[in-house]
Amino acid sequence: MTVPFKTVSESQTILTELMIPTYSNFGGKIHGGILLSLMDKVAYVTASKHYGGYCVTVAVDGVEFINPVEVGQLVSLKSSINYVGKSSMIVGIRVEALYPKTGIISHTNSSYFTMVAKNDANETDIVPGLILENETEIRRFYEGLHLKIMSKQKREMLKSDFSHLSVDEIKNLLLNEKCQVSF
Ligand SMILES: CC(C)(COP(=O)(O)OP(=O)(O)OC[C@H]1O[C@@H](n2cnc3c(N)ncnc32)[C@H](O)[C@@H]1OP(=O)(O)O)[C@@H](O)C(=O)NCCC(=O)NCCS
Repeated sequence: MTVPFKTVSESQTILTELMIPTYSNFGGKIHGGILLSLMDKVAYVTASKHYGGYCVTVAVDGVEFINPVEVGQLVSLKSSINYVGKSSMIVGIRVEALYPKTGIISHTNSSYFTMVAKNDANETDIVPGLILENETEIRRFYEGLHLKIMSKQKREMLKSDFSHLSVDEIKNLLLNEKCQVSF
């Protein structure tokens, strides 16, 4: 069976939501968790459109909140498939907040959600390839390939628990850090 290919624009999605008072924290700003939930939703929509079925979220990279979001702002999440592997897809999401009264738009954050396609038997499934139609799409695909490699290295590093170092070696490496070793 030949693997089908799809363009990036076929699954590109924009989700816009009004920030209401129940989304805010004690400081009056919108909870980061609300934005994460919206990002997960738009990542699912984008990935499931590209795959043509059910997908799961596997990993989230690069979530940094650059500017706070306020009640009354319209938050738009722009997402597209940046990279596809065998069963995984990296969805790039740009979040912007708009004050409708002033028309001022602020960039809230950009992040990358790795989604994996699952078939009806809940097994990972092969996703369509990606047709890259411009320079930006080629750059994003290449960036996605590196993100996949780097996140694999990060997982392996964390799994290793730095067991190749003795506790005394670690103590020395932490001398300039803000901690006190009490044993
Ligand atoms: C994600 C999952 C399918 C991976 O299963 P697995 O048996 O390890 O499958 P594989 O090792 O073949 O990985 C499948 C793909 O996921 C990618 N992947 C697996 N773990 C990953 C991670 N932590 N970060 C990024 N990508 C990951 C692999 O690189 C692979 O990509 P490719 O097919 O494009 O090469 C499985 O762990 C799962 O179902 N997790 C639960 C997901 C879920 O329920 N999410 C909702 C959270 S509430």
